[in-house]
Amino acid sequence: MDKKTIRDLRDSDLQGKRALVRVDFNVPLDDEGGVGDDTRIRAALPTIRYLLEHGGRVVLLSHLGRPKGKPEAKYSLEPVARRLAELLPNEDVTFVESTDTDEAQKATRHGGRVVLLENTRFLGGEEKNDERLSRALAELGDVYVNDAFGSAHRAHASTEGVARYLKPAVAGLLMEQELQYLGAAIANPKRPFIAILGGAKISGKIDVIQNLLPKVDRLLIGGAMACTFFKAMGLETGTSLVEADRVDMAKELLRTGDKKLELPRDAAVAPSLDEGSKAHPVMRDRIPPNEGMFDIGQEAARQFSEMITGAKTIVWNGPMGVFEKPPFDAGTRAVADAMAKATKKGATTVVGGGDSAAAVAELGLESAMSHVSTGGGASLELLEGKVLPGVAALDDRAGGGGTRAA
Ligand code: 3PG
Repeated sequence: MDKKTIRDLRDSDLQGKRALVRVDFNVPLDDEGGVGDDTRIRAALPTIRYLLEHGGRVVLLSHLGRPKGKPEAKYSLEPVARRLAELLPNEDVTFVESTDTDEAQKATRHGGRVVLLENTRFLGGEEKNDERLSRALAELGDVYVNDAFGSAHRAHASTEGVARYLKPAVAGLLMEQELQYLGAAIANPKRPFIAILGGAKISGKIDVIQNLLPKVDRLLIGGAMACTFFKAMGLETGTSLVEADRVDMAKELLRTGDKKLELPRDAAVAPSLDEGSKAHPVMRDRIPPNEGMFDIGQEAARQFSEMITGAKTIVWNGPMGVFEKPPFDAGTRAVADAMAKATKKGATTVVGGGDSAAAVAELGLESAMSHVSTGGGASLELLEGKVLPGVAALDDRAGGGGTRAA
């Protein structure tokens, strides 16, 4: 699926025109009512700047949190508008508090060159992908740009419906980059290609495993997820988190994907999560009945690091242990460090959004990766091989060469 991007637009599409841009400014707020983490806002700046440089006005739409179709002060985008104005010091940024689409229309013509409208989820029809709202949103611009990769798995009025009524409808630069790394790079990887999956549950990752297994050379499994596989191998798992109803599924995966699946050789165990000082490594067939696994072990960290540094394409989603609670962050750190080394050696390294992206940010290794996704659920759905509705709705690019959403 090749999609048009803003780089396919002609100057006449933008000069003096209003670009209606769906961004994902769903960011954490801090206790002082400011933006806690502005990564997603900064990630949208290249698209905003590109549109401005090509003579357009920029009208931004985003959701924040999960309000239920009506205004709620705590979900206002006003703090985001303040941060955006700081990040664009030479631009006049207008924030439109009103949720009245006529008021919004006026602002798109008479406000600053950059206008941020209030939370789309304050509008009743947004999550229902309501046709009337989609048409009303389409009136707010002359061209539609979707740069909200993090929300592209949602078929909402501002991410999907509006693209039916406002043409051209194209991808922004962030969207393009995300689809390139999480889509095309995986569909056509340099080899060896390895994926690392972690996190608590197999159930949330089963579709990812099934989609990636035929494509990868090796699939490394860490996190509590590994314990369900240990159980399937007939090993003692002690008090570790095991999904009893997924053990058969794990057995089946071990049978079909045995040669590619790589499970940790050892585990960091402790009597409980709060007793990190008592943590110690044990081989995976020596987990004591009264202790649980909270991280991969030192040997597994070495085992995984070696494979990572020897690969040419690496995709990682999900922490190796409870990385918020040292010492159970060691496995996740080791994977992040190995990925940084692999990037230096010329490999393509992709970190899925959510927890693994947060871990990489905490370790200050974001710039050491080829790409760190801004999408949590969206990156997972893409790795599952699903078509994202917000991408599907964009204009196809005849003849190829545009954004490929594999
Ligand atoms: C996210 O943070 O994953 C996106 O902004 C989507 O938010 P949602 O899960 O509330 O739709």
